[in-house]
Amino acid sequence: MTKRLKVAEILRTEPLNTTVQVKGWVKAFRNNQFLALNDGSTSTNLQVVVDFENTDSAIIDRIKFGAAIRAQGTLIESQGKGQKVELKATEIEIYGDCNPEEFPLQPKKQTLEFLREHAHLRFRTNTFAAVFRLRHKLAFAIHKFFEDRGFVYLHTPVITASDAEGAGEMFRVTTLPMDNPPRTESGEVDFSQDFFKRSTNLTVSGQLEAELGAMALGEVYTFGPTFRAENSNTTRHLAEFWMIEPEVAFNDLQDNMDLAENMLRYVIQFALEHCADDLKILEDRLIEEEKSKPQDQRSDMSLTEKLRFVVENEFVRLTYTEAIDILKNSTPNKKGKFQYPVEGWGTDLQSEHERYLVEKHFKKPVILTNYPAEIKAFYMRQDEPKEGVPGPTVSAMDILFPGIGEIVGGSQREERYDKLVRRMHEMHIPEEELSWYLDTRRFGTCPHAGFGLGFERLVLFVTGMTNIRDVIAFPRYPGSAEF
Ligand code: 4AD
Ligand code: MG
Repeated sequence: MTKRLKVAEILRTEPLNTTVQVKGWVKAFRNNQFLALNDGSTSTNLQVVVDFENTDSAIIDRIKFGAAIRAQGTLIESQGKGQKVELKATEIEIYGDCNPEEFPLQPKKQTLEFLREHAHLRFRTNTFAAVFRLRHKLAFAIHKFFEDRGFVYLHTPVITASDAEGAGEMFRVTTLPMDNPPRTESGEVDFSQDFFKRSTNLTVSGQLEAELGAMALGEVYTFGPTFRAENSNTTRHLAEFWMIEPEVAFNDLQDNMDLAENMLRYVIQFALEHCADDLKILEDRLIEEEKSKPQDQRSDMSLTEKLRFVVENEFVRLTYTEAIDILKNSTPNKKGKFQYPVEGWGTDLQSEHERYLVEKHFKKPVILTNYPAEIKAFYMRQDEPKEGVPGPTVSAMDILFPGIGEIVGGSQREERYDKLVRRMHEMHIPEEELSWYLDTRRFGTCPHAGFGLGFERLVLFVTGMTNIRDVIAFPRYPGSAEF
């Protein structure tokens, strides 16, 4: 039996003049002779030269775009240009036909919107195959980054009874009958009769549980799906997204920023080193896409230039208060060009403001720190009052990326029991529900910090895609949970 080789393996080792067998899908077939075969192992197709004089014409007729086949023959140096080797086939077997009249994909450019509606087939396009290979490599690079630094990968629960962010954007999990749920005497739904004997939801973040782990294991991270029932129909939001959340005992805000910045640089560098072929495909795609835009909206850097720029330049770090000053005095604010004018200290930044800072003012990734306590979560560490800062702030940090906006959100945590409880009361977060969390502050509490990296936003940045729905295989967003 001839061993089956993957196309990537063949191109890597070029075992000339050996008999090899490959299996994959037809990408193109011309002159009844030259077949471009792809098996997903690389973006590069293998040229298979079909011996059409000695191959059954019924077989030749079935070699169509999208069909699954097996080819066997001798690997030789290529006669044509465009590839170094080719397979001179002596055997072709068809596994699965693909009728071009019915197959929704065509061997030509199709819009991303069309492909999103055919998400079950879109892996088969060069663009999406590249996106998903890259997504895999980035996930691997993240695990490698933490493994090399002694972090423990902690699997936090998907079903929880708490709202880690306190923002109330949760999907409920229940087995109670929707049409006629049991009620308490006062008429509310009686969750004590539910599966978990309490009300539960899909997690919005693994952070609180990660903090428990960090209080013994020192350095942990989670990497899992998180769910937000926020009604955001944007190119940056998903209802189900993957988040990486490291949590480190004894780290302060500075250490936290260093960790996040090092991690982002590391994984982007990893992609540059290990995914050159796929990045090339995506870079060319982006150049094509930008051709339809007016000159002033095109980016002045190519995709890989942009990635290299992030790897090679330090992120700018400044406080929220400093950022507000810059924004208030900015030309678009003075000329009334912002949809949300920057009034003053205390309001949350809109994505137009974040993008102005990153893309126009600094032209670099930016880390904003020490946000007003009012607009951040209850668990963030309260800062000492500072001169020139109008109100109470917390040791929060957001990392803003060009074209993306917020990619990381994190903070040093409030490790002081009294201050944490006081804040929870102020924000109407029931203490009983988080007694297990408060125990960390009662028994051996210590300074610690962590952050959350939105994985799809990272993949969006590295692939140069423009819609977050195109970097997760089966996107969930308001009004859509297909496949
Ligand atoms: O800023 P967020 O809400 O922070 C947390 O959840 C913290 N518990 C993280 C931590 O400190 N451990 O979310 C973190 C990141 C955001 O910066 C963004 O990249 C991403 O998660 N994110 C989303 N990505 C896609 N769709 C959404 N709806 C997202 N919401 C947040
Ligand atoms: Mg955030």
